[in-house]
Amino acid sequence: MATSMNRRNWLKASAMLAGGLTFFSGAVNTAFARPINILSGNKGKRMTDELFAEEAEEPSIPKLKARLFANENPFGPSAKAKKAIKEAMATSYQYPFMKMRELQAKIATFEGVKKEQVYMSAGSSPILLAAAMHFSKNGGTIICGDPSYDDLTHRVDGFGGKVVKVPLTSDYKLDLDAMEKLVDEKTSLVYLVNPNNPTGTIVDTAKLKAFVDRVSKKTTVFIDEAYIDYVADPVGTTLIDSVKKGQNVIVARTFSKLYGFAGLRVGYMIAQPEMVKALEGYSNGGGSISATSINAALASYNDREFLDEALAKTNQSKKFLFDLLTKEGYTYIPSSTNFVMFPLNMDGERFTGEMMKRGVGVRFWKFNNKSWCRVSIGKMNEMQAFAEAFKELS
Ligand SMILES: Cc1ncc(COP(=O)(O)O)c(C=O)c1O
Repeated sequence: MATSMNRRNWLKASAMLAGGLTFFSGAVNTAFARPINILSGNKGKRMTDELFAEEAEEPSIPKLKARLFANENPFGPSAKAKKAIKEAMATSYQYPFMKMRELQAKIATFEGVKKEQVYMSAGSSPILLAAAMHFSKNGGTIICGDPSYDDLTHRVDGFGGKVVKVPLTSDYKLDLDAMEKLVDEKTSLVYLVNPNNPTGTIVDTAKLKAFVDRVSKKTTVFIDEAYIDYVADPVGTTLIDSVKKGQNVIVARTFSKLYGFAGLRVGYMIAQPEMVKALEGYSNGGGSISATSINAALASYNDREFLDEALAKTNQSKKFLFDLLTKEGYTYIPSSTNFVMFPLNMDGERFTGEMMKRGVGVRFWKFNNKSWCRVSIGKMNEMQAFAEAFKELS
């Protein structure tokens, strides 16, 4: 019989093999200076939950007081979404074909695009995976920011493609000028995360649109707008207008963030119909979303009352964090998202380990010769737990 310790060790070893990582106690693949990669790959995600369960049995690790490592929205999902989930239960023996189309049509109408331009997916991760496969074909090169969300780019190697990472500007934004200079005939995709994860920064919209006008004539531009709902003016910031102009642009969106649907799994992309056709060959698309989640998305799409309230609470917690960091003598990168990155005075691995011992889960990165902590914005009690633990270490 496998003892709990054996199982724990096995899980840790498996997680390391799966993603080149360890968790909590030694959580970084130093060779690649990658962060605790709990979000990379399905295997990694599954392992994370199992590791939590296992670690919870470990007396030296206290119960998690603050879950500030996955950029989730603890204020969601909305009451309307929860009600819709309950209502969908009775008919959930049926495949939700019609509801799926209704959701796709609702999004298409709101965004002013054709239905064939909206590709639904169980979260946006399957779209990132589809793009990684498609644009790696024939050894294509994918240009991305560094550091940036690497769910798409870290898989490219395995599919025969290449990644060119372009360091961020001195104000931690995507360096569009440097990226544009690197586009050549081998470039199959430019992947831009805007706002960027992990830095929380956003590029100037006019500059981005002008970049896309030029670059989309040479290659496909993919804008990952996972955090767009957190910016002051999402409609004025999105690049869906560039898709509407007929440009070779993919915009990916998710309900996982401000809608609070990370566990419900709803996402979509908007692109030219032929691009939708090309990418749908790699994924089951909306067919992987459950009836309950589709109903929840239908009920809460553009529910401004809920979204505005969640945003206000997020901003309140974010202000608390900014004030704390300033008081403790730290700087931080101004953030347009539900997470904040700041430079540490100690090794990131040690810091995250010490925070975890105090029941606070955060992540770290290493770049520009520094360790950085990324804190997701949680409920006020979670931010207070962060503050308490942080003050003991800062
Ligand atoms: C920038 C970015 N894109 C995409 C995703 C994937 O999210 P999901 O698959 O839940 O839609 C995340 C998740 O954290 C993210 O940060």
